[in-house]
Amino acid sequence: MNDGSLAIRDVTVRFGGLTALDDVSLTAAPRKITGIIGPNGAGKTTLLNTACGFVRPQSGTVTFDGHPLTGTRAHRLAGLGIARTLQGVGLFKGLTVAENVMVGATPSARAGVWSALFGLPRSDRDERRLRERAMQALAEVGAADLADRMPDTLAYGLRKRVALARALVARPKLLLLDEPASGFPENELPELGELIKKMAAEAGVVVIEHRMDLVMSVCDTIFVLDFGKLIAVGTPAEVQADPAVTAAYLGADGSERTSGEPPPVQEPPGPGAERAEGGGPPRPGADHG
Ligand SMILES: Nc1ncnc2c1ncn2[C@@H]1O[C@H](COP(=O)(O)OP(=O)(O)OP(=O)(O)O)[C@@H](O)[C@H]1O
Ligand SMILES: [Mg+2]
Repeated sequence: MNDGSLAIRDVTVRFGGLTALDDVSLTAAPRKITGIIGPNGAGKTTLLNTACGFVRPQSGTVTFDGHPLTGTRAHRLAGLGIARTLQGVGLFKGLTVAENVMVGATPSARAGVWSALFGLPRSDRDERRLRERAMQALAEVGAADLADRMPDTLAYGLRKRVALARALVARPKLLLLDEPASGFPENELPELGELIKKMAAEAGVVVIEHRMDLVMSVCDTIFVLDFGKLIAVGTPAEVQADPAVTAAYLGADGSERTSGEPPPVQEPPGPGAERAEGGGPPRPGADHG
């Protein structure tokens, strides 16, 4: 589709003997918020990694605005108007918050940041413009006052805001967010919801989230994965009323399965110690062969 949609068609991804995605299709429309939910290990992050070309599927296709994305290198994503945040935080330790956000700007501007970092000649005016854009993005996520801080001095939820600003600074047409609310205190979730809605005024947003209140209040359409299979698609109300979805969140004995919900203000020791991308705790019955 040449209309700014993300179209994932019949994608299957295997890691050794494990089928992480089994014939999954998903369409994310421009200026809409598309949710991906499901228990731990369901394949949500793998789907997002496939959507941006990080993971090459065994079969199926991914297109954005009519461009095939399968096998796209990370550095081309910005050029295509795609930005993503990681399930962890993924900020550079040695850079200030503002510098981290500047790294997220366009590929050409990024050369400016690198030359700035390594002391190479550059235009002061470009540098200033870049910094202004970074400051604007930080203001949008409510983190303007953090510009000169180092990331590892910040609480986890604040680092998540900075990571959001870094995704926003390039003014993407498609934003892929992997658990943006993890580490956010409960009382800040409504504000995050408003922010995600604001992002969707300019871009298609695909969001993985375990915080159900947030998902149900912001998403236009929700895709539900379980053990790599798409088990439901619909509006928040439709998905909530679907018995297959309830069953997916309950174990065979009716007890609740792991939700993947971290405690609200969990403080990992530092960026290096974050959960690995695509990792996450295994859940009962998950086949890791
Ligand atoms: N690179 C990899 N190599 C091997 N197995 C992987 C890899 N990435 C993911 N997996 C496995 O694929 C399955 C899906 O993982 P994925 O990270 O996509 O789940 P998820 O839905 O994002 O889970 P969570 O809610 O815990 O983040 C899991 O069983 C996981 O262990
Ligand atoms: Mg995940």
